[in-house]
Amino acid sequence: MRNETEKLYTVSAILIIGNKFKTEIVMKKILHVISSPRNGTSNSIQLGNKIIEQLKRNYPGSSVLVNNVVDKDYAHLTDIHIAGYLLPEEDKTQQHLDIIAPSDSAVEELINADIIIIGLPLYNFQMPSALKAWIDHIVRKGKTFSYQTGQAEGLLTNKKAYLAIASSGVYSDGPMKVYDFAEPYLRFILGFMGLKDITTFRVEGTALPGIMETALEKGLNSVTV
Ligand SMILES: Cc1cc2nc3c(=O)[nH]c(=O)nc-3n(C[C@H](O)[C@H](O)[C@H](O)COP(=O)(O)O)c2cc1C
Repeated sequence: MRNETEKLYTVSAILIIGNKFKTEIVMKKILHVISSPRNGTSNSIQLGNKIIEQLKRNYPGSSVLVNNVVDKDYAHLTDIHIAGYLLPEEDKTQQHLDIIAPSDSAVEELINADIIIIGLPLYNFQMPSALKAWIDHIVRKGKTFSYQTGQAEGLLTNKKAYLAIASSGVYSDGPMKVYDFAEPYLRFILGFMGLKDITTFRVEGTALPGIMETALEKGLNSVTV
């Protein structure tokens, strides 16, 4: 009887260790999209890095790819971009292929990622144009969304997204909430591409006396992933 009980404990211990080991070896591919030009002092970058720190703790061994869209300087779309996006493969010229190469690699980065973090400094109640340019390069028919079934269908499924938003005003609640056009739009366009599991963290109120003194600390401490 004693042996049977010992055996049971041993089997349970192995199962527990086995399951624990299973959760610890999950590695994620993280894509960090940066759109602040302020590098070291940027609140949205610090917030994104805090999210990554926690993700790496949860998923040791995860990899991080940074796409700094300010440095990347994605072009405004031209007629050649649009033709390059829409033409059948066999009809694309070398000029089309060359001009859509940055878009192709931005799309590939998204397809490869398990978790996408988008850093967004609020500019004039919207996202910075560098981030909007990136969006114009990733919303691609047949790659990130499809109309094949007659209805729009997002192709970036089974991924998690975090928004790291920085603003000098407060938009999460209160009278200015309706004037944040960045977060609702970003949630919509990501959802259009199939990214529906989205969590937002904010560093906000950094120019408002009484709030600004602790805004960064409060924002960073709000991160739980
Ligand atoms: C060009 C520009 C426009 C801005 N527009 C807004 C705005 O509309 N609302 C707001 O609350 N803050 C605005 N800000 C303040 C930034 O959102 C704030 O400084 C934020 O921390 C910037 O993000 P970062 O620290 O990641 O660079 C603006 C800042 C700049 C430089």
